[in-house]
Amino acid sequence: MITYLPGKEPRACEHRLIFKNIDRVGYDPSIECYLRNGGYEQLKKALGMVPKDITEEVKKSGLRGRGGAGFPTGMKWTFIPPNNTKPVYLICNGDESEPGTFKDRYILHQDPHQLIEGMVISAFAVGAHVAYIYIREEFPFAAQTVEHAIAEAKARNFVGKNVLGSGFDVEIFVHRGAGAYICGEETGLIESLEGKRPYPRIKPPYFPAALGLYMCPTIVNNVESLCHVKHIIEMGGDEYAKLGVARNTGTRILCVSGDVKKPGYFEVQVGKLTMRELLYDVCGGPKDGRSFKAVIPGGSSSKILRCDEVFKIKNPDGTSRDLAFWDIPMDFDSLAACGSMAGSGGVIVLDDSRKMSWVLNNLNAFYAHESCGQCTPCREGSTWMKKISDRLVEGLASPEDIATLESVAYQIDGRTICAFGEASSWPVEAIIAKFRDELLADTKTENANKALNPEALAQQRFLQTTH
Ligand SMILES: Cc1cc2nc3c(=O)[nH]c(=O)nc-3n(C[C@H](O)[C@H](O)[C@H](O)COP(=O)(O)O)c2cc1C
Ligand code: SF4
Repeated sequence: MITYLPGKEPRACEHRLIFKNIDRVGYDPSIECYLRNGGYEQLKKALGMVPKDITEEVKKSGLRGRGGAGFPTGMKWTFIPPNNTKPVYLICNGDESEPGTFKDRYILHQDPHQLIEGMVISAFAVGAHVAYIYIREEFPFAAQTVEHAIAEAKARNFVGKNVLGSGFDVEIFVHRGAGAYICGEETGLIESLEGKRPYPRIKPPYFPAALGLYMCPTIVNNVESLCHVKHIIEMGGDEYAKLGVARNTGTRILCVSGDVKKPGYFEVQVGKLTMRELLYDVCGGPKDGRSFKAVIPGGSSSKILRCDEVFKIKNPDGTSRDLAFWDIPMDFDSLAACGSMAGSGGVIVLDDSRKMSWVLNNLNAFYAHESCGQCTPCREGSTWMKKISDRLVEGLASPEDIATLESVAYQIDGRTICAFGEASSWPVEAIIAKFRDELLADTKTENANKALNPEALAQQRFLQTTH
């Protein structure tokens, strides 16, 4: 029988594949422990398969990337040009930089061989002989643990030359970042891995599957996504696809933080849980004396949802129906239909004690600090948004500032090299659209007549020339 550490037991609604061994009594990251628990059996099975059949199973499974965009993993693998003659690389994205997300670190810390097994199977499927695990600077223990695990796997010939006598060679290296959110964006990550400043590349043409690391085909997948591959091999793609709901298959780890009684990480079947079940049944409801106000459902970049919202959802037959916030199933398509996204699975909960000016300013400060500075709308705009929301929390903003803030956000959105532009502007657009009156209540008309500082004058000039 599997027992878990006290207080860390899975909730009744959980379906644990990836986190089965996380927080388990007696489970440690050593290879001996992994082997005792059936480790590397799926690698043996996969090495007996034709690589393209592995990709086929992953396609059948319906697995969608758990890093943020939810792109189908098997389909991504088929984007490697068929007549390619260059080396192919596999990169595991272990940057876990999206605020509100805290899942990959537990895999790296507690179950590194699960990731290595998933990676060797994936490398075999896509024909990569060199793979990297990119780990953020803030996870030194994870880097140490994974490096040790790779050495253990190499010593047993699960990694290295002629893996288990199959004729397949693969080396895995850990690469540590230097601490920047933008290194989580796959092309910024690739630049960083090449030893350069992590300036994201423009897509097209630099889609990593065609032009990635060293301008060679490169598959970038999230830690959790790569772990799923092992379970897809074990279950078969069709069986795996029975977990979850249509187009949103398998399990995923939701990380709930903020104003709930019992925050934490929960591995659930995708779409089988509604917002109400997650926040009340799993997370124990709001703190005493408080009520829920809003939720940021997929990491800080996703658009905020008000708890009193009702969404108009389009049915496949063209008709529409109402969907209340509390009834939203926690899956990619439902959250997208409500104007937000499932993103990285980081669910940030806000109760009625949170002032939206403060929330907005907190997010703006993060994005202003993390913009890589390569493109003007993002570099300048993110800083302006922070400065305006600074004024808002300091009681120095005028009502016009809210309109200016909104205008700056819309001028970033869709006008930048990478999706950081949307990541920084969507939260602003959504908070203003949904909490305009609350924000306006924090402004004063007489502030409009105060002398503008040099930055505000620069903002005005920019707005006049771009409108
Ligand atoms: C600003 C930004 C930050 C990102 N940060 C991460 C991250 O920390 N981890 C991650 O796996 N993906 C992150 N992504 C998504 C990656 O670019 C990429 O889509 C993902 O690693 C692909 O893996 P998946 O298909 O398995 O999800 C980020 C994207 C953007 C635009
Ligand atoms: S959008 Fe922002 S983070 Fe992305 S490349 Fe441009 S400046 Fe850098």
